[in-house]
Amino acid sequence: MSHSPNTVASEAFLRALPKAELHLHIEGSLEPELMFKLAERNNIQLPYANIEEVKKAYDFHNLQSFLDIYYQCADVLRSEQDFYDLTWTYLLHCQADGVVHTEPFFDPQTHTQRGIEMGIVINGITKALKDGHEKLGISSKLILCFLRHLSEDDAIECLEQAKPYLHHITAVGLDSSELGHPPEKFERVFKMAKDLGLKAVAHAGEEGPPEYIYQALDIIHVDRIDHGVRCSEDETLMQRLAASQMPLTVCPLSNVRLKVYDHMSEHNILKLLEFGLNVTVNSDDPSFFGGYLLENFTALSEHLKMSEAQAAQLARNSINSSFLTAEEKQALLAKA
Ligand code: ADE
Ligand code: ZN
Repeated sequence: MSHSPNTVASEAFLRALPKAELHLHIEGSLEPELMFKLAERNNIQLPYANIEEVKKAYDFHNLQSFLDIYYQCADVLRSEQDFYDLTWTYLLHCQADGVVHTEPFFDPQTHTQRGIEMGIVINGITKALKDGHEKLGISSKLILCFLRHLSEDDAIECLEQAKPYLHHITAVGLDSSELGHPPEKFERVFKMAKDLGLKAVAHAGEEGPPEYIYQALDIIHVDRIDHGVRCSEDETLMQRLAASQMPLTVCPLSNVRLKVYDHMSEHNILKLLEFGLNVTVNSDDPSFFGGYLLENFTALSEHLKMSEAQAAQLARNSINSSFLTAEEKQALLAKA
């Protein structure tokens, strides 16, 4: 696809770009409509009377205020079919947005803590991902995230429970409340995961300081940094990230909704890109933050005047930063 350095990228241009999504919490794609359907299916009384009330509750002032509601909503997910429906609904959005490859996160501890077995969660998600490949042509890898507000022993137990399903899992990640829970807290479990042949990613530098990004790189040895936008506070770190081409999975709409930035016009993603960092665009928790991948891209055109050339670079970065093989990446890039 030819692209111009000066033309602001239109929605049609952005949709047609082959894109990978590398930072998406599958529980964060639970739309209020599906939440009500699953509540009825599972005989659960929701604390909201209708969809309007749910949407009104999605008025967040920081990460924790979002997480409190996000974990509450996940309670409607009970059966393998529920996890299948959740994942399939997300994949239909991928198809509509021109996402050709996706690497969703899931939070097993959110479910096992409620007595839902690991197998129910993983089988539901992976059956939908398989159908996504066969019926929609969307490839995928699955990432198991540890909840950082829980203990490392809890994370080790989670990894143990996942062992029968490791053939479905490509990487481990680290999410939930960042401040006060630095990557170093999880050094042992990330070492265990690496020894099992898994890749590693971690949320760092979303609300947490640059120090957490250093720890993610040097103590738990990640292959990608999730968010990472606070790296711009540390010039040495910026230089290091640029030189290593360490991927940063940035989530613009999420950052504005969680007040990392007051307005999209203040977001630093294009500054990071122009500095030479390997940044990508992602939706994080699209049902809660007002948009799937394409809407994250169009917000950058609207508020930051992102050019076609910048958009094409961001899309190429996403495919190159995925956990696909070199041949698979080439095949996707050739579609551009
Ligand atoms: N879990 C779901 N979304 C998250 C985010 N943006 N940061 C940390 N944990 C999360
Ligand atoms: Zn996230």
